[in-house]
Amino acid sequence: MKIKAIVNTKGGVGKSTLAFNVFPIVFPEFKKIYEIDSSNITKLENKEKENKIVAENFDIKKIDIALDKIDMVEMEERDENIIIDTGAGADTKIFLDAISSESFVDSIEFYIPTNDDWEQFQNIVDTIALIRKVSKTAKINLVLNRVHDMLNLEKQFLNLFGSKELGIDSRFEQVQEEISQIHVVPNMQMLGIIKGQYKQFLKDFLETAHSLVDNEQKYKKEWVKEGEETFLKGKKKLRFFKKAIEFEETVRNAFNNEWKKANDDDW
Ligand SMILES: Nc1ncnc2c1ncn2[C@@H]1O[C@H](COP(=O)(O)OP(=O)(O)OP(=O)(O)O)[C@@H](O)[C@H]1O
Ligand SMILES: [Mg+2]
Repeated sequence: MKIKAIVNTKGGVGKSTLAFNVFPIVFPEFKKIYEIDSSNITKLENKEKENKIVAENFDIKKIDIALDKIDMVEMEERDENIIIDTGAGADTKIFLDAISSESFVDSIEFYIPTNDDWEQFQNIVDTIALIRKVSKTAKINLVLNRVHDMLNLEKQFLNLFGSKELGIDSRFEQVQEEISQIHVVPNMQMLGIIKGQYKQFLKDFLETAHSLVDNEQKYKKEWVKEGEETFLKGKKKLRFFKKAIEFEETVRNAFNNEWKKANDDDW
């Protein structure tokens, strides 16, 4: 069993987006999501898919039940990898406090998503401190979320990296030692379209997209039999699906941290 927990004392930074949309793409071997959040319930449309992701929501008051269930997976040595998505503010604190007595605490890999708001640096510092209170050794990763331009990432995240131009000191060094890796998630306009228009999670949507694109010729033959309107509609869909697959690749590459390699000198 492997556990990845997404935490930040700040709300609305992309914890659930990571858990439900990004991690299923970049960590396909993690198929179970524990959403420990009283205020949000993220509904997954599980359409009996073979590779389906199973999500379970726990009210923060029932956190013990969630942790006991995880402990049981560990004890049974079940081949099950778990993503934990914690809710805003207090939920992250309560979660981090509650795991302190669990034997699996050191094996959790933590991810702290953040966006570029100046104030969020303090939340990163606070969240790291809370993690370190319960585990001295657990791996902590930072996820720079909603990145507009990979090549100008440091300019966007001047809350962390500072700016020579503007005379703002970098604060990154204050947390650098505690952070194992920095991951990057692009600002995903496509996600909004898929959520809004198709009412699906990215992974489910992409599965449909792949199956259509992989069988393009077969579908086109069917559409052409139905006439021009169906054919043109089908082609439009196909084009969008191809864009979505490109986008999947972009998300995967960004997350896998090409950025860090390109700017390795400072590390
Ligand atoms: N990389 C991204 N690209 C586009 N939109 C994003 C991205 N990350 C987050 N969002 C949007 O920002 C909003 C907040 O994200 P999300 O719900 O994932 O945050 P959260 O940390 O889980 O919030 P909470 O603390 O309330 O649980 C959502 O509308 C989400 O769609
Ligand atoms: Mg959330």
